Amino acid sequence: MQNEETDYDVTHINFLETLWGEGYLSPGGANEVELIIGEVDLNQKKILDFGCGCGGALFHIAEKYSVSELIGVDIEASVIRRAVYLAAKRSFEQVAKFKLIERGQLPFVDSSFDVVFTKDALIHVSDKKRIFAQLFRVLKPGGHLIAGDWMTWNRGYRTADMQDYLDAEGLDFHMSSLSSYNRDLNEVGFVSVCLQDRQEWYLSKATKELNSLKNELNKEIVGILGHKEAQRQIKVWEKMIVVLESGEHRPGHFSATKPLIA
Ligand SMILES: C[S@@+](CC[C@H](N)C(=O)[O-])C[C@H]1O[C@@H](n2cnc3c(N)ncnc32)[C@H](O)[C@@H]1O
Repeated sequence: MQNEETDYDVTHINFLETLWGEGYLSPGGANEVELIIGEVDLNQKKILDFGCGCGGALFHIAEKYSVSELIGVDIEASVIRRAVYLAAKRSFEQVAKFKLIERGQLPFVDSSFDVVFTKDALIHVSDKKRIFAQLFRVLKPGGHLIAGDWMTWNRGYRTADMQDYLDAEGLDFHMSSLSSYNRDLNEVGFVSVCLQDRQEWYLSKATKELNSLKNELNKEIVGILGHKEAQRQIKVWEKMIVVLESGEHRPGHFSATKPLIA
């Protein structure tokens, strides 16, 4: 299997887990996972985590719910290796399985899952409608897509501040807006689409993260990244806070249902 450049190598994983918690490559930990799940019933359900990273969300779900099966898929071998290691360490290897996939491929037959969960992975996918069509295909009729992602505002243009942040971040980001997600999900055939803006929450959290990168976590992250890269990451957070404050960077959640009769 060929994967191009990696966005999440071992050093970057180590840095993000230091900031966001073991198994998490995105902010908010179990609380955000719970908000994304909302009222969706996970008991005895078969669940796919698309872009599972190091498995933090699935481990929380395995701990809290009596699910039938959890499968995490990701395109990066480094994060899948870490997820498999953590699953064994936390004794979840029977319930949570992880699979390396090719970008753009979902190697599951139609109607395989009751629920598809995804957190902060869709930002890396350029063709949202194509991936939604695949997630729709692997969901059972009546199944739910529940998601969190980093999005942008609905104004249809990008400011120099946002470009500056994206250039500094250097990751393969394709930010959609809540309204274009709404349109794409409906066009693919999902119904009961619900959208929730999380910009205020992340602005407040990211401000605290910046403070801890500069203070209590500074020694640890310099140890992981080296002084130059730690300083660079602090600059990334400063630029991100500018666009969180302006509202151009808008993390959000959404849920959608595959109708019983398509
Ligand atoms: C910000 S991390 C979030 C990981 C995890 N969901 C979490 O919340 O900790 C984004 C993840 O999406 C994965 N990813 C990016 N593009 C993908 C794609 N086309 N298909 C599946 N996973 C992808 C990345 O490799 C990475 O592990």
